[in-house]
Amino acid sequence: MPLQLAILASGRGSNAKAIIDAIKAGTLDATIQCVICNVENAGVLDIAQQAGIPAHCIPHAGLKRPVHEAQVLEALSAYEVDYLVLAGYMRLMTPGFLLPFKDDGFYRVVNIHPSLLPAFPGANGYEDAFHYGVKVSGVTVHLVDEALDNGPIILQEAFPRLETDSLEAFKQRGLAIEHQLYPKALQLIADKRLCFRYDSVSERAYVEVKTHATT
Ligand code: GAR
Repeated sequence: MPLQLAILASGRGSNAKAIIDAIKAGTLDATIQCVICNVENAGVLDIAQQAGIPAHCIPHAGLKRPVHEAQVLEALSAYEVDYLVLAGYMRLMTPGFLLPFKDDGFYRVVNIHPSLLPAFPGANGYEDAFHYGVKVSGVTVHLVDEALDNGPIILQEAFPRLETDSLEAFKQRGLAIEHQLYPKALQLIADKRLCFRYDSVSERAYVEVKTHATT
């Protein structure tokens, strides 16, 4: 049975498109049940429509966070969803929102972040890394927990900041990696290759990736 996903996004939707394309290409064994977007007229809504995926626009403007979250959960309740996939969803989530996705100490919620976490969390990962003057940055796909850009890391990939880079060139290099890395991480989940561990020194949950798929 393919992994059943719901995508939450706020913007142009290039990661959503990469995930849709990977499913079409047969490199990701998943279905996208719906796309939910919190910003009116965001590009991701057109991408979902073109792909024939049910799309819901649930603007957060003017709503208290729990009210907006209740509306999103209500929309999601119409679908069978194994994992929530945050693809540029620029909203902090309350523990109450995550609770329906809690499973054995972790949440079935995945996020992509444009830096090598735990460096440069927040809304402007590429800009913050670039202006800091890093020589190497990267992309992280991780499970979500209650804190911002914090949960167990599934995959990371580094890329250099070249001396000649403009911020735009730096971002484009990262984005090309995002589009490969997100479908790859989701396929690890589809193949049941994630093992959940706990490190008693850091007192953090972490993910170990098994070398072979579990049937
Ligand atoms: C991506 O770069 C993603 O990594 C970032 O938002 C962008 C969304 O682009 N996410 C975060 O910064 C999360 N903290 P997209 O709409 O084209 O997929």
